[in-house]
Amino acid sequence: MKRIAVLTSGGDAPGMNAAIRSVVRKGHHHGLEVVGVRRGYNGLIQGDFIPMELGTVGDIIHRGGTVLYSARSEIFKTSEGQDKAVENLRKWKIDGLVVIGGDGSFRGAQKLTKRGFPAVGVPGTIDNDIPGTDFTIGFDTAVNTVIECIDRIRDTATSHERTYIVEVMGRNAGDIAVWAGLADGAESILIPEAPYQMNEIVDRLARGSKRGKKHSIIIVAEGVGSGVDIGRQIKEMTGAETRVTVLGHIQRGGSPTASDRVLASRMGAKAVDLLLEEQSDQMVAIRRNEVIGVDFDEAFGMKHQPDMSIYDLAEILAI
Ligand code: F6P
Repeated sequence: MKRIAVLTSGGDAPGMNAAIRSVVRKGHHHGLEVVGVRRGYNGLIQGDFIPMELGTVGDIIHRGGTVLYSARSEIFKTSEGQDKAVENLRKWKIDGLVVIGGDGSFRGAQKLTKRGFPAVGVPGTIDNDIPGTDFTIGFDTAVNTVIECIDRIRDTATSHERTYIVEVMGRNAGDIAVWAGLADGAESILIPEAPYQMNEIVDRLARGSKRGKKHSIIIVAEGVGSGVDIGRQIKEMTGAETRVTVLGHIQRGGSPTASDRVLASRMGAKAVDLLLEEQSDQMVAIRRNEVIGVDFDEAFGMKHQPDMSIYDLAEILAI
């Protein structure tokens, strides 16, 4: 293996730059040339490649977003798109590819390995929804962003003695809601992975207000539905003054936390190791704080579940 490439794909996540830096520097450490592919799989198809010297990844470890840009590519889903991508990789004499992204991006990487081109995945998404790994790059930062926002909401919620519904991202996964919910002492956490009863949520609000609570926070994962709808229902059922905040893409930006920078650095380096060991068709994962390689097929066969012990504890503590 002499030359490897790296791209970022799907929704960006804080820490992707730290992962790119790690791939580039670890690659150079082993005497490899490293090429960056811009705009994800679209860049593979369009041949949008740039050489990545050591200096090209200076001053990016602390930056959110991705210096390689990202995209969700429709054209790469076609057989012609995949053929063109492999053709360009071969034209550039690239021997292996690191794909930093989510589940969909890994399925794309596997299309390449099925065509005989070595590719490995590095899990980068704020959603933490990739089966086979305990954590993904960007999740910790997103949770910290959410709690910082909710801390601010708390101030005004207390002043006005209101109930706040905060809708958070996560696509079909409730991880951000669960972690932010425990970290912020939310009254209720609504996630797609657990059933909920509006009556119970309303009862809990009533218990809190009887105890003299000045405000309430309810976190709704976007996979459950619209926070605005939930807010309307709660207002109708309680008559309490209710406000809804949809945090949206704020959760995707910002400087990565120390935890995400370390995770990204470890995972990027492991991806290079996997390619050097000819362990393609794998994704990097972290399990019990060990960074390992996991076959794509094994990961695709698993189902992601948020850590429900955290959800259960949050429920107990919000009594
Ligand atoms: O996958 C990351 C994510 O931010 C999800 O939480 C969200 O559902 C989705 O991407 C939003 O996608 P887009 O940036 O395309 O609107």
